[in-house]
Amino acid sequence: MPDFTATAPGKIILFGEHAVVYGQPALAVPVSKVRARVIVRPNLDPGKEGIQLFAPDIGLTARLRDLEEGHPLKLAVTGLLSELGVTSHPACSIHITSTLPIASGLGSSAAVTVALIRALSGFLGHPLPDDAVSELAFEVEKVHHGTPSGIDNTVITYAQPVYFSRGEPPQILPIEKTFTLVLGDTGIPSPTAKTVSQVREAYRDQPERFRDLFQAIGDLTDRARAAITTGNPEALGPLMDQNHQKLQEMGVSSSALDHLVEQARRAGALGAKLSGGGQGGNMIALVDRGKAPHVAGKLRDAGAKNTIITEVGTTGNQAG
Ligand code: PMV
Repeated sequence: MPDFTATAPGKIILFGEHAVVYGQPALAVPVSKVRARVIVRPNLDPGKEGIQLFAPDIGLTARLRDLEEGHPLKLAVTGLLSELGVTSHPACSIHITSTLPIASGLGSSAAVTVALIRALSGFLGHPLPDDAVSELAFEVEKVHHGTPSGIDNTVITYAQPVYFSRGEPPQILPIEKTFTLVLGDTGIPSPTAKTVSQVREAYRDQPERFRDLFQAIGDLTDRARAAITTGNPEALGPLMDQNHQKLQEMGVSSSALDHLVEQARRAGALGAKLSGGGQGGNMIALVDRGKAPHVAGKLRDAGAKNTIITEVGTTGNQAG
């Protein structure tokens, strides 16, 4: 068997994070400038049977069978093998690298899982269709996130802008007119499971207030979808500002995120919000294309550890 390589992009949520866990729609787009890459190589050394895993970014070198039960990489591999009906582990090594920062709202866990499922299924001669890849990745996301909505595995598997509602088939979103986003990373890692469970507790304490917040965010998402599909992306700016305010009210923003959002607006962004789980990770700003380097520079001056300029466009992988 020859080597088999697969990659998967990062993603950002444009609208609807957290509310999507409670049945509201959300919009997300892939970010292909950052990627997870997995190479599966046959292991021809007769002394080394089974599956070896190498993930230098997280300092992992292990045999699959030595990883603890419930380890997400183990779950991805065993889930795939059982889906394919493969009972004996093929002699191979799996090499995982990623340019996605961990726990920062860019979907690093889902990107690694999707690339891994694609590389290993391809290596075994049984490449899976997208819906099966996404479903398997969703099972692994449960280990990372507890109660994921499924949006990360969906947008990363399809590598297209999606309009997503929990439990419904994802809708690929046609982009009528390209628009530009600047992402700013607070550099503060924030596990999604933590903010998701904080929101769950707050929802339990104040069900009515939170139902209203989720509904208001869902309405913003629907207005954003209309703006995108009718070629009016400039209208996304104020909608992003409003979505950020609702996320602040939910308690998932932070002073670092608010600061970058404010600085982006001052630098001329059309709108800005946190993206993903919040309390750390990334924010996004909608900008006129020509202003993107300026806004990115201002974000770095304001403390962003990294910035990415990405186009959400009409063809191919949509975001660069
Ligand atoms: O932090 P991220 O980018 O993985 O996004 C999480 C999005 C949430 O809506 C907060 C959770 C989910 O599963 O949809």
